[in-house]
Amino acid sequence: MVKSKIAGIGMYIPSNVVTNNDLLKYMDTSDEWIQERTGIKERHYAHRTEETTTTMGVEAAKIAIERAGITPQDIDFIIFATLCPDYYFPGCGVLLQRAMKMKEIGALDVRNQCSGFLYALSVADQFIKTGTYKNILVVGSEKHSFGLDFTTRGRNVSVIFGDGAGSVVLQPASKENQGILSTHLHSDGESAEILAMYNPGTHANHWKEEKYASFDEAEIAQMFFSHKMIDDGQVFPFMDGPAVFKKAIVKFPEVINEALQANGYNTGDLKLLIPHQANLRISQFVQQKLQLRDDQVYNNIQYYGNTTAASVPIALCEAWEKGLVKEGDLICLAAFGSGFTWASALLRW
Ligand code: UT7
Repeated sequence: MVKSKIAGIGMYIPSNVVTNNDLLKYMDTSDEWIQERTGIKERHYAHRTEETTTTMGVEAAKIAIERAGITPQDIDFIIFATLCPDYYFPGCGVLLQRAMKMKEIGALDVRNQCSGFLYALSVADQFIKTGTYKNILVVGSEKHSFGLDFTTRGRNVSVIFGDGAGSVVLQPASKENQGILSTHLHSDGESAEILAMYNPGTHANHWKEEKYASFDEAEIAQMFFSHKMIDDGQVFPFMDGPAVFKKAIVKFPEVINEALQANGYNTGDLKLLIPHQANLRISQFVQQKLQLRDDQVYNNIQYYGNTTAASVPIALCEAWEKGLVKEGDLICLAAFGSGFTWASALLRW
C-alpha cells in the first residue's frame, strides 16, 4: 500500500513577543517561577484584530503549499485542528477554505487539543493510503491569548500558552520506505475534567442545583452564558497541572515506544523526537526515560510557550528549516494532553 509523506511544511508565529516579565502586570508570578517550572522564556500573542486562529493557519498553509510545489486549488481535503476556533461553529476548516479560495473540497475540524495535529495527520494518512485524496492540507493553529484568565487565579494555565500555527501538505510517497510508517492514537476520558474548558457547553452541571429546578428550557437557555460563570472563571481553561504532568510522563514514553516497536526500531534508530511542547520538564523527563541524547529531542517551548495543536508542526517545521531533518531520517512525533488523548507518528523523511 502506498504511504503518505509530508511534501511541504510551514509555520506562522505572530510577531508580538510577550516575555515572562510582561505577564507581571496582570498576575502574581515571576520569570524565575515560569522558567524553572516550564522552561518558557517568552511566547507570542496574535494581533488582537488582524490575526485569528484561521488567519494564522492560512499563513502557515501558504508556506506548506508552496513548499509542496502546488497551489491552494490543488488541495483536495482540509483537516484543521484547534481548541480555540474563530467561532463556536462553524469550524476553522471552512474559513480556511474560503480564505484560500480553494475548491469545494471537504473540510474537517479536529478537536483533540494537544494531540489534535497528530490525530489530524493520522486521518489524512488513511485518506492518502486508500487513494481517496492526493493533496491533503493539515493545519494546527491556536489563538490562546484571547481566552486565558490573566489574573493570579489563572496563572498556572495562562503563563504556559502561546499563539501560532503549523501546517503540512500530505501526498502519496514516491519512494519505497519513505513517509509515515504508522500512527498510534489513544484516549482515556476518565480524567476529562482535569484539563478542560467547561463553558460554553451543554453539560448540565450548573442546572442540577435545587434553585434551578423550577426553570424552564427558555430560562436555562438565557443562562448559557451567565455572569456567574464569568465571575467564577468557568469560561477559562482549567488544569490540574500536577495530575496532568504525572500522566504525561508515563504516556509519552509509552506511545513513542509503541511507534518504534510497531516498526521494528528502537530509540537508538531515532534521528529526532518532536514531542508536543507542553512543558520543557516533561520533554526532559521523557528524554531521560528513553535515554535519548540531547540532539535526538527537539524543543522550542522556550520561545513559543505551549501552542497546543500547533506545537508539533511548528517544532517539526523549525527543525526542518534548521536542517535537522533530512531525507531518510527516522522522526517520531508524539503528543499528550486534554481528554486525555495521546498519540504518536513514526515517519521516514
Ligand atoms: O499541553 C497540555 C497538557 N498540559 C501539561 O502537560 C501541563 C502539565 N503540568 C505542568 O506543566 C505543571 O504542573 C505546571 C507548570 C502547570 C505547574 O507546575 P507545578 O510545578 O506542577 O506547580 P503547582 O501547580 O503544583 O503549583 C506550585 C505552586 C502553587 O503555590 P503553593 O500552593 O505551593 O503556594 C501555585 O499556586 O506554584 C504556584 N503557582 C505559581 N506561582 C507563580 C502556580 N502557577 C504559578 C505561576 N507563578 N504562574
